[in-house]
Amino acid sequence: MIKGILGYAHYLLKETIQPGETVVDATCGNGNDTLYLSKLVGDEGSVFGFDIQKQAIENTKQRLLQHNRTNVTLIHDSHANISNHIQPTTIIGGAIFNLGYLPKSDKSIITKGESTTLAIHNILKQLKEGGLIIIVVYHGHPGGQEEKESVLHKAKSLDQKLFSVLRYDFINQKNNPPFLLAIQKNTD
Ligand SMILES: C[S@@+](CC[C@H](N)C(=O)[O-])C[C@H]1O[C@@H](n2cnc3c(N)ncnc32)[C@H](O)[C@@H]1O
Repeated sequence: MIKGILGYAHYLLKETIQPGETVVDATCGNGNDTLYLSKLVGDEGSVFGFDIQKQAIENTKQRLLQHNRTNVTLIHDSHANISNHIQPTTIIGGAIFNLGYLPKSDKSIITKGESTTLAIHNILKQLKEGGLIIIVVYHGHPGGQEEKESVLHKAKSLDQKLFSVLRYDFINQKNNPPFLLAIQKNTD
């Protein structure tokens, strides 16, 4: 069966992340991906979760509490500032971004091209060989098109000797369906 966008995102993360690793949820929102990553890396691993909205951090905290997950550091800051929170020597096993706005919340608070691409750039510097950054690109909302263009520009400009970039897309869906980008750091 063909997997949906979020199912495929989780499948790719599961294929590449090992227990004990340090990983990043760049956009916690309601914490679905944070919880998934927390279970994938297990109690020996750790997750750094970012969101600029207090409500999202709180929602994620509650979600993790319900599942007794204690290996997550939640950071109320932009993912663009990741270098202020994760040591530059830490190897990152993988990361996920879900772009756009927090569902059932203020639709004007959205991820933006400039900060998203800066965060991608910074995570790539610390990503393990063979590791993935997954970006789920929602672009139907106001501001979404601009962010889509800058993220695609960044992804396309990565040196193919160093990175492999995949786009996973349902080309017969209507109304600006989301698509997935997966950036893998190549092994030597
Ligand atoms: C589509 S939602 C994420 C959904 C989430 N992955 C989940 O499982 O519920 C996008 C989130 O990105 C957050 N966000 C927007 N700009 C951000 C930034 N610069 N840094 C971190 N989070 C940001 C929003 O507040 C929102 O909660």
